[in-house]
Amino acid sequence: MSTESNAAHCVLVTGGAGYIGSHTCCQLLNAGYNAVIIDNFSNADPSVVDAIETITGRRPALVKADLRDAQAVRACFDQYPIDAVIHFAALKAVGESTAKPVEYYEHNLLCTSVLVKEMHSRNVKRLVYSSSATVYGMTNPVPFREDMPISAINPYGWTKVMAEHMLTDLAASDLEWSIALLRYFNPLGAHPSGLIGDDPNGVPANLMPYVNKVAAGILPDLPVFGDDYPTRDGTCIRDYLHVLDLADGHLAALDYIYKHTGIEAVNLGAGVGCSVLDVIHAYERASGQKIPYHITARRPNNADSPESYADTTKAWRLYQWKARRDLDEMCRDSWTFARTRLTK
Ligand code: NAD
Ligand code: WQD
Repeated sequence: MSTESNAAHCVLVTGGAGYIGSHTCCQLLNAGYNAVIIDNFSNADPSVVDAIETITGRRPALVKADLRDAQAVRACFDQYPIDAVIHFAALKAVGESTAKPVEYYEHNLLCTSVLVKEMHSRNVKRLVYSSSATVYGMTNPVPFREDMPISAINPYGWTKVMAEHMLTDLAASDLEWSIALLRYFNPLGAHPSGLIGDDPNGVPANLMPYVNKVAAGILPDLPVFGDDYPTRDGTCIRDYLHVLDLADGHLAALDYIYKHTGIEAVNLGAGVGCSVLDVIHAYERASGQKIPYHITARRPNNADSPESYADTTKAWRLYQWKARRDLDEMCRDSWTFARTRLTK
């Protein structure tokens, strides 16, 4: 779509100040869309909105509110001529979801139900939903295809499975809805400016934020969770994709749902499997320094599947989208973010 025709659209981005949401806002604004962020800043800093403006030269509208607050969501739709929604806002920490399952189910499902009820009452029926490759569970063979059975191994994952079911039932009940269920694989990297990236509080649970903190001298070395998997170097294989490719995937999905009704689940991954050691070595090349690591036990409860990567055929067929940036670029941009933004 052209920048001029995109300018006619106003896209609400829930969780737009977060890691994937902020990169998606940049790509939306660069492509000419009008963007409204709704975020409660429970896992983001308000300065991200300034960074988006610095990067794009355009400032997204901002509503500071909790998505579970139906009145606030209604006021947001009153204020802006929203015609589509990208819904990122959720709690996403797998370990925390096991410790606080009820909070996770309530929070993630309430955010989604409050949002779609308001959309329905307004006749705004275009939705891009953040699902996850976690819905492929532990038993499907790789590469994961969208028609495989879905399940989960932790409460966080079940919130994604349940939301997919809820939205599938919604689309069946009203054929005017147009919904993309985007199943992300493992996003890495940051905007090349270094102004936005993934910076969780405390000791990171995920690989790249941990490597960033080791590289920046904040943490001493990386624990590698097991080297006895049936993979080429014994460490787990994942499908890493650059967060800007992932953001572009949202624009491709948006373009599709403006033109088609119905609901489609679509994998957004690179379609390539990389091991934990591959990531460490790529990061060492990008940063020009050694990343100290030590092999530890597998993750508790055998929670890691040995291999996860996407069949990307459907994303290409429906959206003509594919990931373009390689692991070296993901590590280079992560390192730029780590060395310029992370402080001890
Ligand atoms: P993030 O935590 O960086 O972003 C989520 C944003 O939502 C944050 O800015 C947070 O403040 C906001 N938020 C949370 N609850 C809210 C609420 N009740 N009301 C308003 N705002 C709220 O997470 P992310 O990594 O950008 O992930 C975005 C989405 O993608 C999530 O739904 C996540 O489950 C999904 N996802 C992420 C990954 C990943 O590896 N990062 C992989 C697969 C799926
Ligand atoms: C990647 C690899 C670890 C940290 C998680 C969620 C998933 C999705 C994406 C939202 C694995 C290894 C990690 C460390 C390590 N999120 N690792 N040392 O587990 O594939 O997916 O994020 O939907 O639901 O589960 O990503 O980055 O945590 O781990 O060795 O300190 O790095 O064992 O093989 P994962 P990750």
